[in-house]
Amino acid sequence: MALIALAADKGSPGVTTAAVALAAVWPRRVLLAETDPAGGDLVYRSTAAHGGPLNPNTGLLSIAATARRGLVPDQLWDHVQPLSGGLEVLVGLGVAEQAAGLVSLWPTLGRSFAALADSPQAPADVIADCGRVSGDTPAVELFPHAALVLLLSRTEPEALARVRDRAAHLSARLHGGSRGAAALATPLVGVVLIADPAGSGKLVNQVNDMLVHAQTGARVVGTLADDPAGADMLAGRKRGRLDKSLLVRSARKIAADLNQQYGAAWAVSAQAQQGHHMQQPQQGQQPQQHQQAQQTHQGQYQPSYQPQQGQPQQPYQPQQGHTGAGR
Ligand SMILES: Nc1ncnc2c1ncn2[C@@H]1O[C@H](COP(=O)(O)OP(=O)(O)O)[C@@H](O)[C@H]1O
Ligand SMILES: [Mg+2]
Repeated sequence: MALIALAADKGSPGVTTAAVALAAVWPRRVLLAETDPAGGDLVYRSTAAHGGPLNPNTGLLSIAATARRGLVPDQLWDHVQPLSGGLEVLVGLGVAEQAAGLVSLWPTLGRSFAALADSPQAPADVIADCGRVSGDTPAVELFPHAALVLLLSRTEPEALARVRDRAAHLSARLHGGSRGAAALATPLVGVVLIADPAGSGKLVNQVNDMLVHAQTGARVVGTLADDPAGADMLAGRKRGRLDKSLLVRSARKIAADLNQQYGAAWAVSAQAQQGHHMQQPQQGQQPQQHQQAQQTHQGQYQPSYQPQQGQPQQPYQPQQGHTGAGR
């Protein structure tokens, strides 16, 4: 189990969409964390499990209020809200100015997210939407705690050049200058291209060559479909069969590939950590409230974020008293 951080160099290539799509099809229990210092989007895009809007005050903001004296990983669950469909989310901050006063929150979150993966009671992977990482964003403080940092990129030449340079910069920062180390060390830096998956084989090879040539230590881990209709459905702006969309199908492939390649290593490192640092759970001691996790479907990943049939996701409706506080 692991922390997987998603980010982009510049622009708005679809980090939030990718984070939601991957979390929705993740084969184990997963917590989707909106750690973009520019502010979260889910409050505006998604419906809570109770049918109303998400509460913007429960999530990073409530953690910030209570975590000044540290954060026990399992406490994270106290700040989680389930979306319609069951996906468990930590709602992000409001406007960017909020994050400016809370820069020390990110290292605390990084440690807790990584340790949540190894929790004997309610373990989960964490998929963190870090937004843009150009400049000196505090979100980079999560990266040293991650198993995988995924950089999202569109495929215009300038976007590819930027993701190459960003990957090189991150590898140097995370792994030091030593050549070759970046390809093996944790966190791995991966690139996810947003493109038409059907015709992307050649492009993936070209980008991989470019990443190797620039000694970034990064490689392309998959292609997420450039699927505006799927992205609109995922954001509740459009109705349709989300589970059949190119976006969700491509996310399922990436999730399966990542778990096939790294799942065993993540589980081993989690066990090793538990053995060293944590007590094994006693039978019957698991807290009930954390038991409605997504089931593991061996080889068959069901999106946990499915609009009910005939009932499209409602677009976000501002409602007095529910949202708007701090935004
Ligand atoms: N895979 C995708 N295919 C097509 N459009 C997408 C995709 N991902 C995102 N979009 C669209 O791009 C815009 C930005 O998406 P978002 O996920 O908010 O990006 P970011 O988090 O990088 O700012 C939205 O209009 C969204 O619908
Ligand atoms: Mg975003």
